[in-house]
Amino acid sequence: MAQNISLTRYLVEQQRVDGKIPAQLRLLLEVVARACKSISQAVNKGALGGVLGSAESENVQGEIQKKLDIIANEVLIEANEWGGHLAAMASEEMDSIYVVPNRYPQGEYLLLFDPLDGSSNIDVNVSIGTIFSVLLKPEGHPGVQESDFLQAGNKQVAAGYCVYGPQTTLVLTVGDGVAMFTLDREQGSFILTQENLRIPADTKEFAINMSNKRHWDAPVTRYIDECLAGTTGPRDKDFNMRWIASMVTDVHRILMRGGIFMYPWDKREPEKAGKLRLMYEANPMSWLVEQAGGMATNGRERILDLQPTKLHERVAVVLGSKNEVERVTRYHDPA
Ligand code: AHG
Ligand code: MN
Ligand code: MN
Repeated sequence: MAQNISLTRYLVEQQRVDGKIPAQLRLLLEVVARACKSISQAVNKGALGGVLGSAESENVQGEIQKKLDIIANEVLIEANEWGGHLAAMASEEMDSIYVVPNRYPQGEYLLLFDPLDGSSNIDVNVSIGTIFSVLLKPEGHPGVQESDFLQAGNKQVAAGYCVYGPQTTLVLTVGDGVAMFTLDREQGSFILTQENLRIPADTKEFAINMSNKRHWDAPVTRYIDECLAGTTGPRDKDFNMRWIASMVTDVHRILMRGGIFMYPWDKREPEKAGKLRLMYEANPMSWLVEQAGGMATNGRERILDLQPTKLHERVAVVLGSKNEVERVTRYHDPA
């Protein structure tokens, strides 16, 4: 790989080669990356920047917001509202959509994000991240409304995340494979460090919050019990377990070396389809995983084919190495 291909150069070249990235989308992705750089700075300062701890407010999902949840949300909005590339934004941290104010030109894209994923890890200095998904505003009516966002994940035109860990890493797809960029702090730019990420079809590593075991459905219990049985069980191989409690970081590990991640439906709150949110957590991650040769279902159906009915809809998630996700999905529907 040629030395020092910046995100800007990568996007320009992609645009030039096959016209895959229209100019406005390129601007959008650059702006999101710039916002991630600022969030990374804030994360890095930690206690010195006064960014740790709770904001003592609640979001629409009834979760206590951390200061960094709110800071990251504001950074993303302020970076994106004036550029003319967006019609509106939606976020885990905002009850309803944020329409680009009248004083700025309106573009044709919709941006959805989880500004800070893994909030419970902020104060303990464990990797966290930002997840984003880009859709096109449907044509045929002026203005923008919440229903414009309710598109299946297979309609995404770009998706990605940025992990704030030992390195700050941006991972991106525009539907043509997955590329990874690492933040070079001296240069202040994201540099391409891996192209065409591939998830191995088989794995010996699973990620699930085991403390919820007694609440799971039978197919999930069966799958995990078989992993735990290792060489003494039907799988005839030993498995390892990881659970970081930042989906973004668990998914990043899977993109790097394979694995399966599950946050299934469970009996604690049976009326909810799952814990994770479809539109700005599951959809972008599912598309990245599929683009890297993996698979993502809710236990029964492909996540990217689910038709959302509301902005903050939740979903069960099973994603990662293809053969394992296929197995879990088969266990749910033995026919
Ligand atoms: P968020 O911080 O954006 O609310 O998301 C947290 C999510 C996800 O990142 C992680 O996999 C999961 O919640 C962890 O849940 P548990 O604390 O139940 O393990
Ligand atoms: Mn999240
Ligand atoms: Mn979040």
